[in-house]
Amino acid sequence: YLQVTACETAGMAEFTAVGVVGLGTMGAGIVEVFARAGLRVVASEIDEPALERGRAHLTGSTDRAVARGKLSPDDRDALVGRVTFVVGMAGLADVDLVVEAVPERLDLKRRVFGELSKVCKPSAILASNTSSLSVTEIAVSTDRPDRVVGLHFFNPAPVMKLVEIVRTVVTDPAVVADAQALCGRLGKVGVTIGDRAGFVANALLFGYLNQAVSMVEHGFVSRDDLDAAMRLGGGLPMGPLTLLDLIGLDVGLEVLDTMYERGGRNVRHAAAPLLRQMVTAGLLGRKTGRGFYTYGESAAAPDA
Ligand code: 3HC
Repeated sequence: YLQVTACETAGMAEFTAVGVVGLGTMGAGIVEVFARAGLRVVASEIDEPALERGRAHLTGSTDRAVARGKLSPDDRDALVGRVTFVVGMAGLADVDLVVEAVPERLDLKRRVFGELSKVCKPSAILASNTSSLSVTEIAVSTDRPDRVVGLHFFNPAPVMKLVEIVRTVVTDPAVVADAQALCGRLGKVGVTIGDRAGFVANALLFGYLNQAVSMVEHGFVSRDDLDAAMRLGGGLPMGPLTLLDLIGLDVGLEVLDTMYERGGRNVRHAAAPLLRQMVTAGLLGRKTGRGFYTYGESAAAPDA
């Protein structure tokens, strides 16, 4: 019966308004992605200062696009005008889909999803941008586990084309089809995968990033030479240490720690001590002005 229902309703959901909960680097980027695609967005944060940071992120990013001639001032105004900033989750009652992008703590995410269950209309799809936690464990904290999926965007969200659509054993196939159609509308490519630690991209990427830190930690190669080796020899847009600075060392460490615990304690994901020390010392990458590199005012490029 479920199969028949799925075929009949596949890709049929109308997405007019969506919500984003948590406006850090990823959440604010996801707001921009939705607003660029013409959707109305309710952007939610826990308090006014966090809301202001999210708003500043969106304004900064769209102003940069205008300065580079990629967006007209009118289109920028229209884009920003589609976003409503709200404190708390009460404003999410009418949205068709919510993407949660709060910090990577299972207890926090489960609490947010419990709240979303109460606030959102029953037909709304509830999605998590989690990078390494179990979508299944998040789903069972809601009143509608069949309408919960992972929608894992990549940093910077407005630029990166991939979205990992994570289905659990109870996700309705029609919801996966709707998520797939939505990704197309956003100009992204959605790949569908099961609920495994780190999904596909992070499961493969973070062993590599971790090993890069380890090589520098052991004095085997300098920071610059290691990044140059992978950029020029691997045909990559940036070397692994520059990429960790972009992702945020704290996020990188969280992903590694979670994958280590969930993925059978694979030594590949045992975080390099240097990474942990840098996080403890507050060297989180671009967002704090210093990680493996230091960054100038604009935080656009390493000062080296
Ligand atoms: N927001 C919006 N647009 C941005 C942006 C941002 N934060 N950063 C860059 N851009 C845009 C620029 O405006 C530019 O657009 P244009 O081509 O239309 O002019 C374009 O992206 C290219 O930017 P730049 O010319 O400034 O710089 P680069 O060519 O070096 O590109 C990059 C920057 C897109 C970040 C590129 O270096 C890259 O692809 N790096 C790899 C990123 C990556 O691997 N991300 C995945 C990380 S893993 C992850 O996110 C998973 C999570 O769970 C941890």
